[in-house]
Amino acid sequence: LSTASSSKYVGALDQGTSSTRFVIFDQKGEVVSKYQKEHVQYYPKSGWVEHKAEEIFQNSVDCITNAMKQAKLNPEDVSSIGITNQRETTVVWDKVTGEPLHNAIVWNCARTSGIVSKFQSKCGGVDGLREKTGLPISTYFSATKLCWLMENVPGLKKKAEAGDVLFGTIDCYLTWRLNGGTHHVTDITNAARTLLVNINSLEWDDFLLETFDVPACMLPSIEPSIGGEFGVINQCPALDGVPIGAILGDQHAATFGQACFNVGDAKCTFGTGAFIMMNMGSGSPVVSKQGLLTTPFYQIKGQPPVYALEGAVAVAGSLIQWLRDNLEIGSSAEEIAKLAASVKDAEGIRFVPAFNGLFAPHWREDARGTICGLTFYHTKAHLARAAIDAASFQTAEVFDAMKADSGIELSALKVDGGMTANPQLLEFLADILGTKVLMPKNLETTAAGVAFAAGLSSGVWDSLDQVADLWVEAKQVDQSIDDDERSNLKASWRKAIDRSLGWEQ
Ligand code: G3P
Repeated sequence: LSTASSSKYVGALDQGTSSTRFVIFDQKGEVVSKYQKEHVQYYPKSGWVEHKAEEIFQNSVDCITNAMKQAKLNPEDVSSIGITNQRETTVVWDKVTGEPLHNAIVWNCARTSGIVSKFQSKCGGVDGLREKTGLPISTYFSATKLCWLMENVPGLKKKAEAGDVLFGTIDCYLTWRLNGGTHHVTDITNAARTLLVNINSLEWDDFLLETFDVPACMLPSIEPSIGGEFGVINQCPALDGVPIGAILGDQHAATFGQACFNVGDAKCTFGTGAFIMMNMGSGSPVVSKQGLLTTPFYQIKGQPPVYALEGAVAVAGSLIQWLRDNLEIGSSAEEIAKLAASVKDAEGIRFVPAFNGLFAPHWREDARGTICGLTFYHTKAHLARAAIDAASFQTAEVFDAMKADSGIELSALKVDGGMTANPQLLEFLADILGTKVLMPKNLETTAAGVAFAAGLSSGVWDSLDQVADLWVEAKQVDQSIDDDERSNLKASWRKAIDRSLGWEQ
């Protein structure tokens, strides 16, 4: 992509749902320094979730500045940075002042369920746009969030039509702020999560823009993820002059960091939600018949895009936060994990965390959280265990859908994310999947993935093979139950899911 840079460090700005981190890697792929900052979650109504984009930008600058200081590096030591981000979260801002015109509407915000029903009726059901976009019509994606903003922020629609407002996902907003507005850009992995992009051409689609009534003038241009024209940083002294070499949505970056470079390689990240992604190669995108998402995985400039199938589960780690903050059954995730480990299993409790409806593979806005099977015998420890099991049960549903869609029998699942520190989760996951679970030595897969992508663009590494060599296995967990037990467990989960569907009519 470019000739080898003499600066050998690369940076990753990893902007997630609950926090922002800046991580610096050396040429061996080792972490040199990192800095992290949480941002405030706003829940103005039940099911609504917002962030302040300005706070996220300031946190990004703080994280960069502190990580650079810790590593005692200057901008000229860094060959490029990559940006990876919570996807779908929608920001609109003033083209001149850069001021956000509303709080960012977060990916898991369910406020647009009414708008979603309207578009589902108009477009032929939940799958009415699937052939074109690879996605179901859901509150998850940016288009209906943008419709809500246009309908509810006074004057926004007029201002947008006059060309005075810019739209972007978090990657786009941060890039625009860091490069001082020289490039209003996003990459294919983020653009394809808006419901406004054609999955084959990977360009904004006129029919979709008309359907959702989005003025084209507010949209960023779409670049290949690795080596696209993202501009040079000039608004953050610790990195001024450093190019932005790559942008990848966070789950795409984690898949890259897990070195899933062969068709059929798959990973699951257990963060706020659980996100399973499988490499489907660079041919035509496979449109799912099982409720999965078709998404670009990455594109290197000058090469065809590589596609993936994804199963997005809305609630995984956030259920543990909810137990901690709302039910106060433990003061930390570690304490809840300990509590869960104090019982041999959940004693028949199934906990479906359909707090904002259910994402993959069900796509039901009307599902709500459900706990089944309670008796006087149960304690908070069983509840904690059921909450941790829920992440595995949901992953297994996606895993089965993936096998059915791809025809590929998965022989292993690579995992990462905060919840994988919990051995009970890994053991139950291997049991319910019926396959081995692999954990890498470097658990910073999201940051590593986008750092490797940026390093490829600036010549720190020059091939995917070199990047794949940086992946080292730390742990393998094998299944320990038979097929009958597995099917019984899955059947009980299916019953619990059925009870959660249709609660919110
Ligand atoms: O699609 C949403 C996803 O990108 C959020 O990821 O890790 O911030 O929960 P995370």
